[in-house]
Amino acid sequence: MAFEPVLTNHVREPNSFTLDFYLRNARGYEGLRKALTLKPGDIIDQVKASGLRGRGGAGFPTGLKWQFVLKDTPKPKYIACNADESEPGTFKDHVLMERNPHLLIEGCAIGCYAIGAKIAYIYIRGEFYHVQETLERAIEEAYRAGFLGKNILGSGFDCDVYVHRGAGAYEAGEETALIESLEGKRAQPRIKPPFPAVAGLYQCPTAVNNVETLCNVPLIVLNGPEWFAGLGPEKNGGPKLYCISGHVKRPGVYEASMHTTLRELIYGDQYAQGMLDGKKFKAIIPGGSSVPILLDKDLDTPASFDHIQKAGSLLGSAGLIVMDDSVCMVWLAMNLLHFYRHESCGKCTPCREGGDWLYKLLQRVENGEGRAKDIDLLFGVASNIVGKTLCAFGDAAATPVLTTLNLFRHEFEAHVKEGRCTLPAPWRAKQPVMAH
Ligand SMILES: Cc1cc2nc3c(=O)[nH]c(=O)nc-3n(C[C@H](O)[C@H](O)[C@H](O)COP(=O)(O)O)c2cc1C
Repeated sequence: MAFEPVLTNHVREPNSFTLDFYLRNARGYEGLRKALTLKPGDIIDQVKASGLRGRGGAGFPTGLKWQFVLKDTPKPKYIACNADESEPGTFKDHVLMERNPHLLIEGCAIGCYAIGAKIAYIYIRGEFYHVQETLERAIEEAYRAGFLGKNILGSGFDCDVYVHRGAGAYEAGEETALIESLEGKRAQPRIKPPFPAVAGLYQCPTAVNNVETLCNVPLIVLNGPEWFAGLGPEKNGGPKLYCISGHVKRPGVYEASMHTTLRELIYGDQYAQGMLDGKKFKAIIPGGSSVPILLDKDLDTPASFDHIQKAGSLLGSAGLIVMDDSVCMVWLAMNLLHFYRHESCGKCTPCREGGDWLYKLLQRVENGEGRAKDIDLLFGVASNIVGKTLCAFGDAAATPVLTTLNLFRHEFEAHVKEGRCTLPAPWRAKQPVMAH
């Protein structure tokens, strides 16, 4: 059965971001209307039955997360919508916010109702100025129409949605760092436990949910959990947005079922349409820059959370970075470490110091000045970061080194042996050696 997009079906149409368009063409706010006739616990049950898994990176079941948000507490509860979208290779959430913002607002309102919250904060990436404007206009429209505010649709339920702009840091997307930032502090992670569901924003129970995750909620309430689960493989239901970038003919955001294989996403006519300039495929990072590389032999893997994990990587934020055979894997690791070293929040020593050390070692190898022992040193430093930091940033920073060493160690050895980059691509200028 052909898959019909449901999250992005209208995004190319003029004025898709207006309330009028949403009400006329997308059954706008019917999900909220229906949700308000149900008990909050029934909505959580529906979300659980749908099998919706978080689209922000970890793939954690959303219904379960909502259930963890304590019910019997005098404290207020919150939804913190994660719109930080800073993972390299990931650019799907801003499309939803820019072209279909009412779906997110409706998802926030239903989410608040389900967990007993009255406030949702949308924590938006600092650089998304124009997206924030669109979102705020849509929120104003929703207030005016009575879909937000006091006594929504005469139900007695009150809900406010605020947009909070971050200062532009990758770490601000980590859920506890996001909460710190919302509280007006530096975006640095907290010790877990307690998890945000127990002690989050202002030490109150908080559900941190990704934009795409929340956008699925109105659709589940409207169409039922069975419909949602049936769209994908078992435990990987629903529509999925894939961000395809790199050496492909038609990079972009594509909505598909998680039955779709990586090969179909790269070569399919309705997706990225194959390798750019007919070049040879070399490797893919399937989940944003923080996950292990997969190879041609893995391309028939369905792009689902469970299948990609079985193949040895992670679906993460579904940022598919496709590389042709002009890409030097030492350069790739160096380029990514340039990012991670810069973005480390500095709180945990292994990440702060290790990232910088890895970058300098990679620079040395890439520039042909590496020693044979640097290869084992790279492995040792990266391995000593994994699992030793408060948040998953440390693992994310070590992964590009470990995965390239694991699959392309011969390229590192050739750099050391020949004293130069063995695959200098024409589009790549030699990186200057940077002082810290
Ligand atoms: C360094 C780091 C950056 C992250 N950045 C984002 C982000 O930009 N957007 C996002 O939704 N999740 C991000 N996450 C994952 C969040 O911590 C969290 O798992 C997610 O927002 C939960 O929402 P979900 O259950 O809907 O996926 C990041 C995690 C880490 C460790």
